[in-house]
Amino acid sequence: MTEALTKEFQAVRALFPHTKSVVFLNSAAYGPFTATIKQAISDNVDLRIRSDKDDSHDAFVTQDELRGAYARMIGAAKRQVGIGLNTSFGLNVAAFGYPLKKGDEVLISDIEFPAVVYTWRAAAEARGLRLKFIKSHDRFFDIDELQKAITKRTKVLSLSWVQFFNGFKNDLAAISALCKRHGILFVIDGIQGMGVEPINVRKLGIDVFTSGCQKWMLSPQGCGFFYLSDEVRAKITPPFMSWLSVDWKMNFSDLFHFHRPYYDSARRYEMGYFVVLNLLGMKAAVEIFERLGIRNIQRHNHALIDRLAAYIRSNPFYRITCCMEPRHRSSIFTFTCKNVVRLHAGLLKRKIITANREGSIRVSVHLFNNEKDINRLIEVLEGFSKGS
Ligand SMILES: Cc1ncc(COP(=O)(O)O)c(C=O)c1O
Repeated sequence: MTEALTKEFQAVRALFPHTKSVVFLNSAAYGPFTATIKQAISDNVDLRIRSDKDDSHDAFVTQDELRGAYARMIGAAKRQVGIGLNTSFGLNVAAFGYPLKKGDEVLISDIEFPAVVYTWRAAAEARGLRLKFIKSHDRFFDIDELQKAITKRTKVLSLSWVQFFNGFKNDLAAISALCKRHGILFVIDGIQGMGVEPINVRKLGIDVFTSGCQKWMLSPQGCGFFYLSDEVRAKITPPFMSWLSVDWKMNFSDLFHFHRPYYDSARRYEMGYFVVLNLLGMKAAVEIFERLGIRNIQRHNHALIDRLAAYIRSNPFYRITCCMEPRHRSSIFTFTCKNVVRLHAGLLKRKIITANREGSIRVSVHLFNNEKDINRLIEVLEGFSKGS
């Protein structure tokens, strides 16, 4: 990393008040706010208290800017991106809107996050689809098992980009090629990679990509976006619809028009007014990613994880439980040891925030972390391994 970029990361870290009091290594669960994000939200609260100006117009503009910003981040066109409430929102658009017939098969992994499982389970129950689980190996997704699970009836594969509990980044290029060969809709839950791993959904041939923004994307809960390829958008029947699914050209003084065409873009699937406070929070958060660049953030995070991984390998008390292969690693690092529950609580007591997931300590490293954070974690881990 160049000196200028290092300085930029330092300057961004200074925007996060939490860095003064805690070592936050839990972005896979939720994202801390900067003072600028807080300001953007509280300015809108103040405006509503004063109530001397209608903020809807600004909200529509912000929402549109966000469609463009998220599109740039994932290599899509603005027309392909809509603003949603979370990851589940986009999953539901696909699960209830994509044309499928009774008996069609939907494949999901047997180690999938429940948002994917429950959405497709509900769609399967409502639409008479068959939900099939792909067997994992050692708790990692296995493309050979996917291949074995595909039949003539397979119509959908719904998968996390990065697995929530061990950070395993799926090989989207290889999986997408397989889906294309068999005419399978490829639906990605992107939340655990969004903002920290570069992606180009169009080059990868992803049909539906959906992500909440409450974690790595540093936005409030209840924020998200979704991408639909042009081909898939043309096939989806909106599972829900609102008056804002048509273009009013910002003119809300003449509303008795009931035959306007729906937007020919992902906007059609958005639903009514969005939470304005959230839009403003999302926008302030997105600016941080535009400032640093996702590839730089990835490099920064992986370098810090390398430091931690070297320590974990050097101490036989601990064992790495994530995959460190370059194409499968992410900004989530996991390891285990005797008494993970006690270690997790001990870290928390020392103001080091990690997560205890499926028998491992999950360390999520993000753009505001630095070597000091990792050194502090290593110091506590060293003490724990020696019984203190
Ligand atoms: C892989 C994955 N998908 C989805 C979610 C959350 O779903 P939603 O954004 O719909 O609440 C999480 C974590 O909360 C997750 O780790």
